[in-house]
Parts: sequence; structure tokens; C-alpha cells
Amino acid sequence: MKPLARRTDDLRQSDIRAVSQMVRAVDGINLGQGICDLPTPEPLRRSAMDAVDRSLATYSHHAGIETLRDYILAKARSYNEIPVESIDSIVVSAGSTGAFATAILAILDPGDEVIVFEPFYGYHVNLVRAVGATIVTVPQSVPDWTLDFDQVEASVSPRTKALVVTTPGNPNGKVWSRDELSRLLDIAERHDLWIITDEIYEYIVYDDLEHVSAASLPTGYDRTITISGFSKTFNMTGWRLGYSVSPSVTAEKIGLLNDLFYICAPTPLQHGVAAAVDMSESYFDEMRADYARKRHLMCTTLESAGFDVSWPDGAYYVLAGIQPLAERLPGFDNDRIACRTLIERCGIGSVSGSSFFTDQQVGSTYLRFCFAKEMDELETACRRLEEVFAL
Ligand SMILES: Cc1ncc(COP(=O)(O)O)c(C=O)c1O
Repeated sequence: MKPLARRTDDLRQSDIRAVSQMVRAVDGINLGQGICDLPTPEPLRRSAMDAVDRSLATYSHHAGIETLRDYILAKARSYNEIPVESIDSIVVSAGSTGAFATAILAILDPGDEVIVFEPFYGYHVNLVRAVGATIVTVPQSVPDWTLDFDQVEASVSPRTKALVVTTPGNPNGKVWSRDELSRLLDIAERHDLWIITDEIYEYIVYDDLEHVSAASLPTGYDRTITISGFSKTFNMTGWRLGYSVSPSVTAEKIGLLNDLFYICAPTPLQHGVAAAVDMSESYFDEMRADYARKRHLMCTTLESAGFDVSWPDGAYYVLAGIQPLAERLPGFDNDRIACRTLIERCGIGSVSGSSFFTDQQVGSTYLRFCFAKEMDELETACRRLEEVFAL
């Protein structure tokens, strides 16, 4: 038998699933997998059911139904301040993951290099590799995940084609400032690079920080593909609806690829979102306030349990250092052992830090916790952590 494609050689199912199984086996609480299991807002559920009832069940336009793209256009202009001109710049896809995959397929050739910032979101790295491009990582420094822009520039080679930014970041919650994005854009302009920004957590920022889109910076729009979606903002990860925003010449190619891979995003769910997505400001304010309370509980609990915590500025994860625990307790020698220890001793699931780093030595000193849980469940999880590990 001839071998399978080489692009699958290094692909592995992350240990997130194995962790989920172990947590289930002890009837524990999983703060590992980045699944937000809060309910989808009722108006969205109702309008999607209505679309199914009305049999809006055929293929849609490959780039999405017009009413949904109209909403995204208005939102990209007002919330993101992106100077997007028409819905020709918008491609609705199978989640932001579909949007990212079609975006990189549109701009990368095998052998191209892509710079990502470490810790990174694993799908970005694996998808870039799957299309035959090479990942180059640049570290973000603890505790504030700052970047050395000289190092970023030094990492650019004649083969570099794109930079990938995730803001707010998963797993570290870094929210890129306007100044940082401007400095990155300067580098992109000097070396003629694309910027792909994953902004799926754009509405989840803390302490009145502002979410800034690279495409909104003067001269940023032409070389930026902005990726976002509805999964996280509206608790609908399984609906698989996301989108990209880019200049129409780029969007046309992304749309062709979206057609090839998916034909379109799920039509009734597109209608469901388009009919009910225009929420009042209070929806977003309440969501942020709710996550801010959960962030506070999660971070203070981890601190009192002895983890080294850098509080996230956005998104709903904490990347917590295990080094201080390793110094005083058995079972914290590295991320995988620590992950097991937490499940065995208090039934709490987490994700090994090495999933987010190419530098395994650095990665092995972290665990990631997701606090997108119902408050009572998170409180129970935190109580268990405190009871077992409080200093
Ligand atoms: C940074 C980031 N981008 C994208 C996704 C996936 O989003 P979607 O459900 O829209 O594909 C996730 C999910 O965890 C994520 O953390």
C-alpha cells in the first residue's frame, strides 16, 4: 500500500480528549477543553429553529447569505473600525476555523514561512503546516507576554509570507495594543507580508482595555485578513459559523476556496444568526462582566493554590505556571504529570502547556485552565482546588 500523505505524519490528536475521558471517569470538572458550555442566547436558538421549520435548507451563496454579510459589514465598520467597503469583502465559512483555513490556502504556497507568536493556538500551527508552509515562532515574554520587535524582524526571511496574530489570545489572554499592532504593521510593510488576525474573542476583554483590529490601522486594511465568528460571543461553538474580512480581491479567492471545501456554511443557522444577532450593548456588557467575575475567581484560586498566574487581559483561559508547585509538592514535575495529578487529587481537568509551545521545555511548565463554565460549576471546581492545594 502506498503511504498516506506526508501532511498527516506529524498530526496528532491533542491530549485534550484523553484528559476529557479521564475527567469523566472520576466524575470531575473539565477546565481543559476550550468548550464554552454556557447556553446559546434564546433569540438565536428560536430564529434558527424557525429557519429550520421554514425549510431554509438549501445551499446558500458560497460566501454567505446577504443579510448575514450585511450584519458583518456593519459590525466590521462600527465595532472593528475596519474600512471595509462592501459585502464582497466578507466570506462566511464553517466557523472561524474554516475562515482561517481558506485564508491561508488563498495566500500560502508550500515552502512559505509563517511567523506565529508563542504560546500559540495549535490549530493555526497545524493548519499552516498542513498546507505545506513552515512555522517560525517568536516568543512572547512573561509575565505580560510582551514581544521583542527586533526579534520579530530578525525572524523574517525572504520566504516569510505572513504573520499570525491572535487577539485576544488563546491560551494566554494577551490583548494586542494599538502600539504593538502598529509596530507589527511597520514590519509587515517593510517586508511586504500578510497579516492574519484571529479575533474570535474580540468581545471578551477586561479592565476596559480596547480591542484593536490590525485592519483598522491606517494602511492596515490592504494586507490584513481579519478572522472572527460567532462561536465564542454567542456560545455556539457547534453551529460552525465564522467569517473572514479582507479586500475584495483577496476575499474573492477565499470565497472560491470556501466554495470548494464547504460549498457554504450551514444555511438555516446563517438565517438563524442573521435574524437575531443584533444584540443590545447590554448583552456584551453583561457577558464581559460575567467573564470578569469568573476570571477573578479562577485566578485568585490558582494563586492561592500556589500556581504562578499571569491574569489574562482577554478571552477565557488562564495559562498558569506550575514551577512553584513543583518546588513544594510531588506530582508537578512537568505539565503532563501535573495535569494527571490535578485529575487524580481533585477531579479537575486542564490542558498541558506544551500544546501551545514549540519549545517543549518552556511549555512543560504550564497548564491551561478554561473558565467558560456556569458559575456554580466553576465555584465547585475552585473549591476543590482550594481544599486540596491551598497554601
Ligand atoms: C483562537 C481561536 N480561534 C479559533 C477557534 C475556533 O473557532 P470556531 O469555532 O469559530 O472555528 C478557537 C477555539 O477554541 C480559538 O481559541
